[in-house]
Amino acid sequence: MTTSTVEIDEIVDGLSGEQKQISPKYFYDERGSQLFDDITELPEYYLTNTELGIMRDNIDEIVELVGKQASLIEFGSGSSLKTQILLEHTSELAVYVPVDISDEHLHASAEKIRARFPHVEVLPVVADFTKEFDLPTPMVMPIRNVVYFPGSTIGNFEHDMAMDLLRVMHHEAGKNGALLIGVDLQKDPAIIENAYNDSAGVTAEFNLNVLQHLNRDYGANFDVDGFSHSANYDAEKGRVVIELVSHADQKVELGDTEFDIADGEAILTEYSHKYTLDGFAEMARAAGFSVERVWTDANKLFSVQFLTRQ
Ligand code: SAH
Ligand code: AVI
Repeated sequence: MTTSTVEIDEIVDGLSGEQKQISPKYFYDERGSQLFDDITELPEYYLTNTELGIMRDNIDEIVELVGKQASLIEFGSGSSLKTQILLEHTSELAVYVPVDISDEHLHASAEKIRARFPHVEVLPVVADFTKEFDLPTPMVMPIRNVVYFPGSTIGNFEHDMAMDLLRVMHHEAGKNGALLIGVDLQKDPAIIENAYNDSAGVTAEFNLNVLQHLNRDYGANFDVDGFSHSANYDAEKGRVVIELVSHADQKVELGDTEFDIADGEAILTEYSHKYTLDGFAEMARAAGFSVERVWTDANKLFSVQFLTRQ
């Protein structure tokens, strides 16, 4: 893996503020992507199974709305788990473009998709989707672009950044394009808190792995055992606040910069926003989308939404 000075500056910046923070995109080295896959299998992590269920229950309608000869561009594709349900039910995609920051994991997943669906052209793109990136040119000219953003990854962005991302997707979708998006919903706080504090400790390992990633690839020297995982739901703001809390006064070096971290001080590693259907519709509309169709599970835990350009 190659690291850039831009990334190092970004990490140093995040650790230099009053509230220390590390962007959640640094969770996803190879180990982090594996740990995320483990999270999706946890009994407490309702998001993945619920979204998979919604996809399966409504797949004919979803395939119909995606239409023929579409380019399916997936932001943060990970293991392309949910995409496989779509691919199982249509042979009429022009191309599948999975976009992810986690290089090795993306290429391994793309290989698996090619082996399972040999008729689909698969063009993986390693990129940070919060920055500009180029889309590849497919062999068959697509009729439309459908951006796919499952998993409620939109929830990992604060409002302004989420709006920016929706606008980027609106632009990538193009004139007669659409956005198929998974959005987690507000619910009983206990269900949400359990999903981020699993009894097997996998989410804690996932959270702590961000420090290991910075040690391995960015020359930091965090004492990983000196931190604990913390995840609390702020019902007022509708978001889980995920942090690493220091057990002692410690000094950490990253490149030429040294940071003091106090006993009890927290590094913010992720927010996971939960939406109301009305709240998300308002954001989507402000970004130029119309909410065409919303599917939820019977308990209204999660939603999959099909948005078109206004
Ligand atoms: N879509 C999958 C995976 C969700 S996990 C699912 O629904 O299960 C979030 C994924 O987004 C990871 O694969 C991670 O590597 C990727 N990711 C997170 N931030 C990213 C960024 N800024 N740019 C590109 N990929 C990102
Ligand atoms: C990728 N993202 C939507 C996950 C979430 O639920 O916010 C990441 C995650 N963090 C801890 N567990 C899962």
